[in-house]
Amino acid sequence: MNKLLSQLPADLAPEKLPQHIAIIMDGNGRWATQQGLPRIAGHRQGAKTLKELLRCCKDWGIKVLTAYAFSTENWRRPTEEVDFLMLLFEKLIHRELAQMHREGVKISFIGDLSPLPKSLQQKMQHSMLETANNQAIEFNVAVNYGGRQEITQACRHIAELVQRGELNPELINENLITQNLYTTSIPEPDLLIRTSGEMRLSNFLLWQMAYTEIYFTDTFWPEFDRSAFHQALLHYQKRNRRFGSINLTLSA
Ligand code: IPE
Ligand code: IPE
Ligand code: MG
Repeated sequence: MNKLLSQLPADLAPEKLPQHIAIIMDGNGRWATQQGLPRIAGHRQGAKTLKELLRCCKDWGIKVLTAYAFSTENWRRPTEEVDFLMLLFEKLIHRELAQMHREGVKISFIGDLSPLPKSLQQKMQHSMLETANNQAIEFNVAVNYGGRQEITQACRHIAELVQRGELNPELINENLITQNLYTTSIPEPDLLIRTSGEMRLSNFLLWQMAYTEIYFTDTFWPEFDRSAFHQALLHYQKRNRRFGSINLTLSA
């Protein structure tokens, strides 16, 4: 990679970079159709885009990247597409793990992994264990992830503690719920990027994104490159994050 490209662009302020970026990688199918290719070709290309973005985040000093790869609703797609995606995830882990490990990537899979093919689950567990102590960047991949499902399982777990007499209901607070999500040790996203022009959350990180800045772009995911990412970060750096307060320096 050209040295210049790997550096943070001069018009971005390093101290104002988002720590954690969440991505809804959307538009693979439409991109492929537009090229006269089958939808699966879009997923294959989308995987390359994700690999590039991960490297870019690492180069530019972003600490956490969380990508939505498969939602709890995506099982509604044709079996051939679902099967292709499961196989693609497995192949990607097999092909990319060694290099990600060398580059210091700490990988985690979030979501209900139990209905996934056993061989995929094994590869996921292995890659999480192998990279657990890496520190260059945290890379979270949401597979069979749904925000409502995540909150529901947290409620169930907390209710079980109460039922066993191990928890006083008065001690249930936002912190305890946060601790029972798949993202326990992951900070809340500062920025969400969704590609392909759709403007919705599609059940992604519902609890965690209460105060996340959202950036939508019409670009299809397979075409979301470094310069598109640069644009997203420029927009983010112009936002004024108030968290319900007021900006004292601006209010007269
Ligand atoms: C996103 O692209 C990838 C997954 C949901 C797995 P899509 O497959 O949703 O692409 P479009 O939205 O149909 O173009
Ligand atoms: C959201 O994309 C899920 C992922 C990117 C994995 P979808 O394409 O499934 O979302 P909807 O159905 O258009 O909301
Ligand atoms: Mg889509």
